[in-house]
Amino acid sequence: MSELTESLAPIVFSPWHHPLAAGLANHMDVEFGRLQQRNFPDGESYLRVDSGVKDRDCVIVADLAQPNEKAIPIIFLAETLYELGARSVGLVAPYLAYMRQDKRFKDGEAVTSHIFAKVISPHLNWMITIDPHLHRIHSLDEIYSMETRVLTASGNLAQLLDAQPSSLLIGPDAESEQWVSEIAANSGNDFCIAHKTRLGDHNVKIHFPSFPDREIKHATIVDDVISSGTTIVHCAQLLKEIGVKEIACVATHGIFAEDTLQKIYHAGVVEVITSNSITNPASCIDVSDIVAAEIKDIYAAKSRLAG
Ligand code: R5P
Repeated sequence: MSELTESLAPIVFSPWHHPLAAGLANHMDVEFGRLQQRNFPDGESYLRVDSGVKDRDCVIVADLAQPNEKAIPIIFLAETLYELGARSVGLVAPYLAYMRQDKRFKDGEAVTSHIFAKVISPHLNWMITIDPHLHRIHSLDEIYSMETRVLTASGNLAQLLDAQPSSLLIGPDAESEQWVSEIAANSGNDFCIAHKTRLGDHNVKIHFPSFPDREIKHATIVDDVISSGTTIVHCAQLLKEIGVKEIACVATHGIFAEDTLQKIYHAGVVEVITSNSITNPASCIDVSDIVAAEIKDIYAAKSRLAG
């Protein structure tokens, strides 16, 4: 490796124009890679890299919402970058898909968390992601064979909640306690965790094993992912029944898979805010600062290793 290439900024490719890619430039030196990408009439992917990548570190930025559409083009891009001489290819997947089917709940089901990890790991040097849904899997290293770095948006979310100090934070299920407790500690809010049983894609049962015995004027439901909105809607309905006056919700990842936002507002939630890990109309918490810091750390570690 020459001194010249060592000092060059990574080349960032963002096949679906993720705002985090542009955000990185506010925190580190990057060069943006040029790419042509389209589908043939039969749906196959066409890809052409228009930037010189020989001996360069490359970063692909793509959330993995709608993962089936994105996984193959990401693999094609990564393999093409290596073939064109890239020194390394990393993936910033601010939202990591296929983390919830982490066990065979019913006989014969595919455990897609494990399979997806096996499919993409061989094509990349590293991956950075934010608040992956780690539940029965405790570390991505259990299923991903490439280097993985896990960030949390809790600090960014907590900054927002600093402005709402009297809000009771609500975790809608047991898994949420890990991030709700951290955000509560960072923002100085109280929190309360519900119990959720999922009965189907659009049906959950939620109850509070215990709830503060005082009037709650404002509550903020905090979750890692909002997909169909079923969890938030049921939780908001329950909070209304309990007598909470105003309800907001904050999440790291807003997938909003269907008419989710409307459903949530219709359930009486007055404000919905997510990070910009996935682009959506509520994605106003920028997390490019933590991603840039981690990318810099990866390159610093690699250059220390290289001596
Ligand atoms: C699951 O346990 C997650 O933490 C979220 O609560 C869940 O994925 C949200 O999904 P939905 O919006 O479809 O209820």
